[in-house]
Amino acid sequence: MSDDAVPNLDPLSLRLAAANALIRRRRSIKPKDMSDKQVEKEHLAAILENANWAPTHGMTQPWRFTVFAEDGRQRLADFLQKLYKDQMPEDKFRQDKYDKFGTQPLLSPIVIAIGMSRQKNEAIPEIEEIEAVACAVQNIHLTASALGMAGYWSSPPICYTDEMRVWLGMPDERDKCLGFFYLGWPKGEEWPEGNRGDMAEKVTWVAS
Ligand SMILES: Cc1cc2nc3c(=O)[nH]c(=O)nc-3n(C[C@H](O)[C@H](O)[C@H](O)COP(=O)(O)O)c2cc1C
Repeated sequence: MSDDAVPNLDPLSLRLAAANALIRRRRSIKPKDMSDKQVEKEHLAAILENANWAPTHGMTQPWRFTVFAEDGRQRLADFLQKLYKDQMPEDKFRQDKYDKFGTQPLLSPIVIAIGMSRQKNEAIPEIEEIEAVACAVQNIHLTASALGMAGYWSSPPICYTDEMRVWLGMPDERDKCLGFFYLGWPKGEEWPEGNRGDMAEKVTWVAS
């Protein structure tokens, strides 16, 4: 058997290896590192459908997505620039940030605005609705990674403004925009390395 052959693992170990590979290979790859290769409609549909299978307390399914593609990305870029200009006091305004809002959405074939729709009777705590949306975004990112696609969650402070929320068609002031998910294909062949600190430092065991 050559060194790179798949070892003869038992079924459970194989499942674990598949889960490890999917979860640990997921990386944030920014629009500047994406190619101009388009996203196939069926891939996008599969990615969004998997978002819909996120866990949700009380089955509220609070995730709402607005998909910007083709010329729609220019509309988003124009609005982000306007919003940034309107929100920033003159002494805090940065030309490089303004320029980036105008160019970044065009570097990625798809930009998905991430929304949270607040349950009308507010029975579920707001934090749990935000958590459910984050789970949906993780499903998006994992599915994209499984396909070898690039993805990146961006959360510039202006995404949390009322103006952003309303522009995205969420008039209820309890709703929220939670950022943007950029989706495309990596430019290069190389997949970025990830890194994490020691998990043992983040877990406390209580066994007696
Ligand atoms: C809720 C959320 C918001 C994020 N917003 C930003 C952001 O605004 N800018 C940024 O550079 N990365 C952002 N990220 C991505 C992180 O930088 C990235 O996940 C982290 O560097 C770890 O890299 P990895 O995703 O490749 O493991 C965000 C991630 C999450 C979960």
